Amino acid sequence: MNSEQSIDNITIAEQSEVEDYRAALAADVLRGLSLPRRELQPKYFYDETGSQLFEKICDLPEYYQTRTESAILRDIAPELVEHYRPATLVEFGSGSSLKTRLLLSAMEDAGVLKRYVPIDISREMLLSTAESLVREYPGLAVDAVIGDFNAGLPPLTAPGPRLIIFLGSTIGNFTEEEATAFLRRVSSGMGEDDLFLLGIDLVKDPAMLHAAYNDADGVTAEFNLNVLRVINRELGGAFDTGSFRHYAFFNPRASQIEMHLASLTEQVVPIESIGMDVRFGRGETILTEISRKFTRESASALMAAAGLNVLDIFSDSGELFALALARRENG
Ligand code: SAH
Ligand code: AVI
Repeated sequence: MNSEQSIDNITIAEQSEVEDYRAALAADVLRGLSLPRRELQPKYFYDETGSQLFEKICDLPEYYQTRTESAILRDIAPELVEHYRPATLVEFGSGSSLKTRLLLSAMEDAGVLKRYVPIDISREMLLSTAESLVREYPGLAVDAVIGDFNAGLPPLTAPGPRLIIFLGSTIGNFTEEEATAFLRRVSSGMGEDDLFLLGIDLVKDPAMLHAAYNDADGVTAEFNLNVLRVINRELGGAFDTGSFRHYAFFNPRASQIEMHLASLTEQVVPIESIGMDVRFGRGETILTEISRKFTRESASALMAAAGLNVLDIFSDSGELFALALARRENG
């Protein structure tokens, strides 16, 4: 950790300085845009604007994921908490912690709520959420960790038993290798009384998937284009967002949504601080995100490969979304 501070019931641990974030972005942009198949990492969507756009996505009628996962959580939270009585809730990619409140409230009702450890790269969203939560849950200690959960996790030192959650199917934004490596790090940090709850978006009618990533109001398009604005601001890029188009589709063979930005014209885009001129042919794309869709079987296999023993998988009646509950193997 580079810095740590404490206000009221909130402690904030910052994994890196703003300059380190910019250096990582510079290295990733240089590498990703030099590849024959250009790519950018989805973590760079989430500056303040990007996080707000994601919140708007969650409210879209086409984006069934958030409301479906909320309904499952509302259903299972009281019994889960009553049964396992976790003292600490740890969350990766917590964002606005909206769905998390269903678990925090169940923990409060059961009289076990002590500590919440949200981990997210989106600084402003994390800090404003932490402030709201200590007001909403008197006595709750929030240990916020600002950082990249793929760049080494903070050790899980908060008192157990811990319920560790990773919601929204953000795991689907990782490749198979990234997901396995991430889950391995999680399982190896878990104690034998700890539990892990993973949100997974399920394979379904491609038309429904397509709509969820191509909403009528164009919010997802704005979210996608936001990564170009981040590069312009942080690295002195000269992307004209009007000359790129959001392009997202379901690839059934890879079982994933692929989200791209397609250049509408032949153009050269300078990125000043990395001394790069990026050449685009007309229609050439940058892959900005994959969003993998799972079956109960593929999710269980992924978790097993990472040393997690799946205890149960909860879903909605339409089998649109699921939450997998696991323990560390031999736990
Ligand atoms: N859990 C919320 C938010 C999901 S959006 C929900 O289910 O609705 C994904 C979240 O993960 C965002 O808050 C984003 O800032 C965060 N995130 C994405 N990549 C990250 C990374 N590499 N490290 C830390 N946080 C990341
Ligand atoms: C955060 N993540 C799980 C979202 C998803 O559905 O893959 C991000 C997103 N991209 C476009 N819409 C939402």
